[in-house]
Amino acid sequence: MPLLGVNIDHVATVRNARRTDEPDPVWGAMEAELGGADGITFHLREDRRHIMDRDARLLRETVGVKLNMEMAIADEIVAIAVDLRPDQCSIVPERREEITTEGGLDVVRHHQRIASAVERLRETGIVVCAFIEPTEAQIRASADIGFQSVELWTGGYAHAKTPAARDTAIEALRSGIELGRSLGLVVHGGHGLTYRNVAEVARLPGFCEFNIGHSIVSRAIFVGMREAVREMKRLLTTHGS
Ligand code: PXP
Repeated sequence: MPLLGVNIDHVATVRNARRTDEPDPVWGAMEAELGGADGITFHLREDRRHIMDRDARLLRETVGVKLNMEMAIADEIVAIAVDLRPDQCSIVPERREEITTEGGLDVVRHHQRIASAVERLRETGIVVCAFIEPTEAQIRASADIGFQSVELWTGGYAHAKTPAARDTAIEALRSGIELGRSLGLVVHGGHGLTYRNVAEVARLPGFCEFNIGHSIVSRAIFVGMREAVREMKRLLTTHGS
């Protein structure tokens, strides 16, 4: 059964909208943990638009489940990660003008720069994961570079406009999981997953974990974080293989 990593960035988005101290993403992480989250994910962006350095430090001190830090390979951020020692670093592409992470990292194109960041993080014992599109080239390049895991971008499935496009995206994920696992990678999934669409990807055999943020934080506004996480866990338990 796939595990659930809860991305708490958007608790910080609400806080930062008023430049105040509530809601606190550290509290959000604790509530998520109490609701059954298997991991907590945060993205320390270079522009600090949601999670800030103080949050990252306190999350490291307080989170009792797996702590996953999403990050770009900027030198400043890599240095913070090395110092912080989250359990896992997920390398994502980052563009200042984007609303959220758009698509996966191009591991093939930025091979050299990514390889040195991966080496630096792995030396400290951090598990390093590549957030990539489910294509053969990106999966093979991730394994070659030394990533121990990949998070396959599920946005292609989540944003598909037609049943045919959805089927194509599901098949790409299915073969991506198979290839990744055959190369010794641990395979996760994430992006754009909601209470309505998670069942179909959860059914695919081989996903170890899903990272879900926006939909859970949105639901938490109405039912509270613990209950929102419980409901998502229930879907993964019911539909996950
Ligand atoms: N996984 C990665 C690598 C991401 O960058 C994000 C968005 O921050 C997520 C998962 C969660 O996506 P969503 O907020 O759409 O659930």
